[in-house]
Parts: sequence; C-alpha cells; structure tokens
Amino acid sequence: MHADRVERKWIRAFAEVFERSNVHSGDPVAILSETQSRQINVHLSELALLELGAKAYHVVMPTPAQEFDMPVRSNGRTLALQNIRPVVNLLAESSFVADNTVEGMLHTSELREVLSRGSRYLHINNDHPEVLERVVCGTEMKERVQEAGALIQRSRTMRITSAAGTDLTVDISGPACQSGGSWGFSDEPGILGTWPGGMVSIFPPPGTVSGTVVMDQGDLNLTFKRYLESPIKLIFEKDFIVSVEGEGADAAMFRSYNEHWGDHDAWGISHLGWGLNPRAHWEAMLAYDKRDTNGGEARMFAGCFLFSTGVNEIAGRDTSGHYDLPMRNCTIALDDTVAVDRGRLVDLSRAS
Ligand SMILES: [Fe+2]
Repeated sequence: MHADRVERKWIRAFAEVFERSNVHSGDPVAILSETQSRQINVHLSELALLELGAKAYHVVMPTPAQEFDMPVRSNGRTLALQNIRPVVNLLAESSFVADNTVEGMLHTSELREVLSRGSRYLHINNDHPEVLERVVCGTEMKERVQEAGALIQRSRTMRITSAAGTDLTVDISGPACQSGGSWGFSDEPGILGTWPGGMVSIFPPPGTVSGTVVMDQGDLNLTFKRYLESPIKLIFEKDFIVSVEGEGADAAMFRSYNEHWGDHDAWGISHLGWGLNPRAHWEAMLAYDKRDTNGGEARMFAGCFLFSTGVNEIAGRDTSGHYDLPMRNCTIALDDTVAVDRGRLVDLSRAS
C-alpha cells in the first residue's frame, strides 16, 4: 500500500525525534537492527543521525530461529541479542541506541543493563514511516507522562470500569509499584523511549490485580492486529486470568492462542495504564495492511485503557506470550481522581 522509498519528510521526522532525544554532533550512536527489520526505518535512522552529525554505526543481528511453531508477535522481547557480551557492551557504551529490531528490547535483561550503564534507548516500533510521521510527540508529552506517573505514585488503588462491564481493581499501594511510560523520545541517560510514544504504565507487583475486564466490539487485540467483532470477558483473580468467556471467534482465538505457550505466566497480567497521545487515532489501523503496522499508534491513543498479559519482571513472570489489548470507553480512577472518563482523557494539570 505504501512504497518503501526514502522520503525527505521521513528523514526530517526521524531527525526531529533524535533531536528530542538529545543526539548531538559527534555522539557515538548505535543503530540496532536485525536481518528481518523494516529496512526503510533502518535506512532513515542512519540518514537522520548523519544529518545531525552523529557518529552512527550499525549493529545488525541475524534474526534467530523461531522458538515455537506458533508465531510470536508483539511481545517486546527480542531474542536477537542473545546476551552476546561484545554486543551488549557496545550498546551500553553508546550514548544512544536507535533500536529497529522487530520486537524491540523492552522486556529484556539486556535493555535493563544497557540503561543502567547510562545509555539512552529509543525503540522505533515496527511501523511503516507513514505511521510514525503522524504521531511524533512534542516536548510537552514528557510533562503529561510524568504528571500521570506522579498521580499513580501517590495513589493506593487504580480502578478501571466501563459500561460494557469492566470492573478491575489494582492495588498500587506497595513500594514495588513503579510507574513508567514513554513520552516518545529518550532525552536522559537510563530513559527508555518508544516511537510512537505517549502512554503511562505500571507493571503490577504480585497478587495485586483482581476483577473483570470486558473487551467490547471494536477494542483491539494487537497481537492479532484485529478489532474485536465479539466481546471477550476476562476474569482476573490475583493477577491471573481464570476464565475467558464469550460466544464469538475472538474469545475462542484468545483462549486457544494463549494455550499454545503451555505456560501459566502467559495468563498473568503484564503492564497496564493509559494512552496520552492526541495524534494517535483509533481507526488508523483500518487504513493499513498488516504488514505496514505493528499497532504502535493504538497503544498510545489518548484515553485508551491499555492492558496486557504475559511477561512482568516486577512480578517475576517470564513468558513468550504477550497480548497488548487497548480498549476504548473505559473510566480509569486513581483513588478519587479520574484520569480517564469514559474513554476521554482528563486534564490532570487541572485535576491536581
Ligand atoms: Fe506490551
């Protein structure tokens, strides 16, 4: 649908995001990719970094053999690095890493090490640049994300409700409950950025999530890149899905795909939070072939409730299974403060 041709406007968009990530002339910058990466984004990363005068170099990993006979999608846990020490050391010693691996390093021990050693890291989602150019975050997004994160940090309970029947409660009072998120660029050492960006999230500690989530028609399963055509009702008890209900194909496929991992952790809660990016559009994925999008935009949609299942380092759960499940029309309350009202983002600068 879209041509994989370098366009000047995309070099400019990449350069803009790298500039916000404080990439300066002379900085040693790694362009990380794998052999199955979207080559146009790798190319654009190179051209934009060179335009900024950075000393850019490519780190290209062979895409490894698949672990399973089921496709792994959207789990943010690339296996491409294999903890190869010279590679991890090179990334950690780079001032900035532009990650174009297919899944990204988001949920890997290698990334934790790279960040802890002071590098800055941006995951460029495996989306076509025609998607990326529309959803660039401005500098104000950092404040929005930090504002939302501060609300989480000072609250004891997060409750998500919806007219469709969702009523989920998360105990966020413990010290292990740290908020995170992405404002679309990585401007400080140790900061993880994603592009698209604009969301706040937490990885709930063990035993803190219980209740019901009803995904409605039109909500998204981003592992399948599919808008639901029939509702799915998920019952959570102490972090784990204990029941998947629903008459349609969506519930059946949700259940059967996750069963393939043969892994109890695949049924546990991973991260949850909400989107903050007003440039992201819910219907946009309808306009793209699956090959051209990885759903990064829908994760950041302003006012969506984004929850997920699978890997959760805070809770000590590790699995290859991962569903990212953004939903519309939910209300998200932190104690008595409503952050999202029936799918609409509340201006927290006025609420506090
Ligand atoms: Fe996720």
